Amino acid sequence: MLISPSILSADFANLEGELQRISNADWAHVDVMDNHFVPNLTLGLPVVEALLKVSPIPLDAHLMIEDPDRWAPMYAEAGCGSVTFHIEAARDPRSLARTLRSAGARSAMALKPGTPFAPYEELLPELDMVLVMTVEPGFGGQSFMADQLPKVREVREAVRRHGGEIWVQVDGGVSADTIEQCAEAGADVFVAGSAVYGAQDAAGAVAELRALAQR
Ligand code: DX5
Ligand code: ZN
Repeated sequence: MLISPSILSADFANLEGELQRISNADWAHVDVMDNHFVPNLTLGLPVVEALLKVSPIPLDAHLMIEDPDRWAPMYAEAGCGSVTFHIEAARDPRSLARTLRSAGARSAMALKPGTPFAPYEELLPELDMVLVMTVEPGFGGQSFMADQLPKVREVREAVRRHGGEIWVQVDGGVSADTIEQCAEAGADVFVAGSAVYGAQDAAGAVAELRALAQR
């Protein structure tokens, strides 16, 4: 299992230092928002390229943007370890996922809370990770949506049937209070923003989440 703290809740004036605070995590989750796919604007490729130069751990790019077919490959080419596009925005997800892989990244598909998994199960052969959103994408610090846990279970079962190594990621409201239910439902990559960066000791929060998820 992997812990991927979201830098959305970090100090944007000191992102290099904020990455150092979580160097005991597995990946650093970077939320790219374009103010079209979601009603918020964060950062884009130039900042991600700068972060890649200084990050002690691989970057896990979560693209909450329109037209990922055009933009997502650039994040893979830049060197992100994984690149996640939203299925609601992708025009040709099969071809996009293949392009991400051939650029050397893990390819990942994200599902908003209202988006079912079943119609997209056929994409599993092209994917290295499925992200089940446990809040409406756009903002950190929202409450965990426990009604998404059946979808986590459904994805885990499909991955089991399919075989191979496909991660199941949860993102949104993941904390010491909610991570165990996520793990129990079958998630194995845990994104946490406010639960990590809201703590005095961010590395300690990562270690605590890891221990809880492994129980
Ligand atoms: C929300 C982002 C999340 C966000 C999670 O749209 O995708 O990655 O940073 O923040 P928390 O963990 O505070 O819910
Ligand atoms: Zn995210």
